[in-house]
Amino acid sequence: MTKILIDGNHILSGEIQISGAKNSAVALIPAAILAKSKSVIYNVPEIRDIDYLIKIMELLGCKIDHKDDALYIDSSNVKNVPIPEELSVQMRASYYFMGVLLAKFGRVEISFPGGCNIGARPIDIHIKGFQALGANVEIIKNRYIITADKLVGKKIYLDFPSVGATINLMLAAVGAEGTTIIENAAMEPEIVNVASLLINMGVKINGAGTKTIEIIGNKELDNGVVEVFPDRIESGTYIIIGALLGDNLKIKGIIKEHIEALLMKIKEIGINFKIDKDTITISKCNEIKPTYIKTLVFPGFPTDLQQPMTTLLTQAHGKSTIEETLYENRFKNTYDLNRMGAITNILTLNKLEIIGPRKLKGTNVIATDLRGGASLLIAALIAEGKTEIDNSEYILRGYGDVVNKLKNVGADIEISE
Ligand code: UD1
Repeated sequence: MTKILIDGNHILSGEIQISGAKNSAVALIPAAILAKSKSVIYNVPEIRDIDYLIKIMELLGCKIDHKDDALYIDSSNVKNVPIPEELSVQMRASYYFMGVLLAKFGRVEISFPGGCNIGARPIDIHIKGFQALGANVEIIKNRYIITADKLVGKKIYLDFPSVGATINLMLAAVGAEGTTIIENAAMEPEIVNVASLLINMGVKINGAGTKTIEIIGNKELDNGVVEVFPDRIESGTYIIIGALLGDNLKIKGIIKEHIEALLMKIKEIGINFKIDKDTITISKCNEIKPTYIKTLVFPGFPTDLQQPMTTLLTQAHGKSTIEETLYENRFKNTYDLNRMGAITNILTLNKLEIIGPRKLKGTNVIATDLRGGASLLIAALIAEGKTEIDNSEYILRGYGDVVNKLKNVGADIEISE
């Protein structure tokens, strides 16, 4: 078990460099299979999900060279083999092999995907989309077997603008004859990032980043080159840390337009910051105001920053409310936050009240999921005394080099495997 140990309440100053986005990288790597031979992906984050994805890619016959932050992927000898449970459950994003292998081979066999336990997380919208393109989907025990003699482009309306379904259907549509139109598509930046790789390989795509995406199928693809966008959730997490502990803390490599909802919210609650090109400079705020947050799809307030934001609001002067509209089980972090001295009350399944400001005290806590783990990490950084975060492998799934990044700006933080 991995533990992160933190002695809290140290002011942080210096620079933190943001890594490539986890949720882009986990789609871009499988997408490389669509190229006939080579692809290069730059700015790949060093996180555990990527290690497992590389294992799946190698199982499928890809050769991968990992140099610095670049992945050189040779998919010339890719073969279609079933993806076993021990690999598929390691992350949510293993579902992208469905779209990719369906486009490339017209067949995919994969065990159920994993990911954080933050709600039911069905993949019915992905499946309906594959069926609309002409695929047959069977579920045998814990495996999906998806087959298609041929895929044909169609107009698909998504019941919800799901990030995963939008990307998966974009990937599958590459292998379809004719034009696929995805209506009510998700608009998250990760979709634009994946589209840019596909376009670079030779696919015609219009509208990525809007509600309507048009993809013209093309199997003659090669030489994809792409740079992973900076991680907007990692950016937001360090911005929250800066608002609590920064002394002119600089967070470098952000894209402002990707984190606008967070920036507006922290401005509203009294936190000052300066942005110069891709760098934000932020300092501790002693008079944080309470607020109301509702999580929404992009460009709304991201659900993945809801838990880190909860910790910030334990320091606000008054009562804040968070409404979580995407997941039904995303307040599990509040149990340990309360043990550290916070006052949070789950009012209904998707509504949380936070009463502040509260001094937090270090203790032993357990990360129950990736962003919940980040929420506890932030709490440990502001708490008096020592905190030990068990199950910290969750945190390492999404925050590359987190211990060194924080140590370099003055945090007292160690990791023990
Ligand atoms: C992705 C991100 C995750 C983020 C989420 C929302 C990855 C690997 N993960 O997850 O970090 O929290 O976007 O920004 O990119 N839904 C269905 N049926 C489906 C698909 C989704 O009901 O077929 C529901 C989900 O249960 C959830 C909502 O739609 O309530 C949003 O899910 P979705 O956007 O698909 O999230 P993920 O792709 O799982």
